[in-house]
Amino acid sequence: MIVATDRGDLAAARARMTGRVAVVMTMGALHAGHAALIRAARAVADHLIVTIFVNPLQFGPSEDFGRYPRTVEADVEICRAEGVDLVFAPAHQEIYRDGEPRVRVDSGPLATILEGASRPGHFDGVLTVVLKLLNLTRADAAYFGEKDYQQLTLIRAMVRDLDVPVEIIGVPTVREPDGLALSSRNRYLSPADRTAALALPRALRAGAAAAEAGLGGDRSLAAARTEIAGTPGVVLDYLELTDPVLGPTPVRGPARLVVAARVGATRLIDNLAVELG
Ligand code: PAF
Repeated sequence: MIVATDRGDLAAARARMTGRVAVVMTMGALHAGHAALIRAARAVADHLIVTIFVNPLQFGPSEDFGRYPRTVEADVEICRAEGVDLVFAPAHQEIYRDGEPRVRVDSGPLATILEGASRPGHFDGVLTVVLKLLNLTRADAAYFGEKDYQQLTLIRAMVRDLDVPVEIIGVPTVREPDGLALSSRNRYLSPADRTAALALPRALRAGAAAAEAGLGGDRSLAAARTEIAGTPGVVLDYLELTDPVLGPTPVRGPARLVVAARVGATRLIDNLAVELG
């Protein structure tokens, strides 16, 4: 496995790759959720690139950029064990050569709701780095987790609207046995927070059960909100029922329950596909 830290080494290694090349983009602190992305990509790609870069552009001024977990050596070992061909782990100036980029991707109106309403500018930062990493890796396919559902939806929209020549593949969320979605931020949770955080998957399951029982969107949301409201230490940011591309709630058929809440000092997000009966 090659570990490249500059774009010249990345380009040289990429030039030697033939067939279908896949990329899994990460901010490091790899866990079983990332391993699932890597395995899904590995199963169909001839060559697999993993990028590790904590992208400052997608963090707000009061967010956790400074304390975001950085575990590059362990991450590289996980990639080696998972059969990755190339890890690209650049320093800041390798990605943003002139410091702050003068031009960014404008993520549009879909980026102003849900996560975007709480994190202004976040998705412009995400899409800017994703587009740069797609250009640098020249991957044929890129794999992203459904856990960050709005991110996945916006990446699909960017690729379609800007005619980026790559296939975007979403991979289902990996959960702990008790239902908590895996996230690099789970390591911030105290044992009490960890227990309280289970209100998120419980809320999603309650909402999905009500939806599937044919009780309608409002009753589904009410059932989900009751789970959050009944859990001390969990402060709801949003809980919405949208169509599969984050549009208005459909009357029936496929939909998505999306939730964000603060658990102690940690902000967590989760989502679930539901079928409105
Ligand atoms: O999902 C993430 O880890 C990040 O948002 C991504 C896609 C690697 C861009 O920095």
